[in-house]
Amino acid sequence: MNPRPTPEDIAASAQRVRASGRAPTVAVVLGSGWDGIAEAVDTPLDIAYAELPAFPALGVAGHTGTLRLGRLGGAEVALLRGRQHAYESGDAAAMKGAIRTLAAIGCTTVVLTNAAGSLDPTMRPGALMLIADHLNIAQRTPLHGEPGNDRFVDLRDAYDPALRQRAKDAATTLGLALHEGTYAWVLGPQFETPAEIRMLRLLGAQAVGMSTVPETILARHAGLKVLGLSMLTNMGCGMEAETLSHAHTLQVAQGAREAAARLLRALVPALVA
Ligand code: HPA
Repeated sequence: MNPRPTPEDIAASAQRVRASGRAPTVAVVLGSGWDGIAEAVDTPLDIAYAELPAFPALGVAGHTGTLRLGRLGGAEVALLRGRQHAYESGDAAAMKGAIRTLAAIGCTTVVLTNAAGSLDPTMRPGALMLIADHLNIAQRTPLHGEPGNDRFVDLRDAYDPALRQRAKDAATTLGLALHEGTYAWVLGPQFETPAEIRMLRLLGAQAVGMSTVPETILARHAGLKVLGLSMLTNMGCGMEAETLSHAHTLQVAQGAREAAARLLRALVPALVA
């Protein structure tokens, strides 16, 4: 199936991180709008994905492809600035090597962030949502070709309830609104039709997006705890008059960037405390 990354690629990537002298225990995958936190880490040290053979080569503008190591509050963190999406190559396992490297270097928790469309009229563009559960509408898996019984990953409480509570507590302390709901993963890169949005709403999803779910599956398979956060950048297609575009997504994401950074800054150290 997907021969890459090899175990050797993962070992070499982990070795490269260890050689930096840093030992992060929590990692954050930064989606559109969430990158503001990168400026808040102390003693930042950057490693280009190009130096990490298990990490993806990136295509989408606005994603830089750098692993930033540093301190946030009392925590040693790894920030993944850039991800590869399944819609780029058709490969749902695009982040396999990156997630497995995080496990190999001793991370126990990964925070997955994204930009998403809102399916709930009360969740407006710019709002933040905690992912409580997901719908794998794409019906793809990053675990094709995996051997053994470990591949039958239990996804109950995939988005760790205790970590979700810490996220709610952090938001309350900050006076920041944080919704909670189910995230539907579609493959993309095209946006949904109005009929698809009506279907997703009927199925009980509150947000729709093109990332995160493969990473959640990989992280649970690797034994990492997962927290998922969406920034709602638009209402689902057909819910309102607006025309969707990637430029619009990035523009709204820019507006909510500060709130997202405040939340991560308070929350991430609390995840490993
Ligand atoms: N649909 C899918 N993915 C998205 C959307 C959307 O409306 N907005 C941001 N990412």
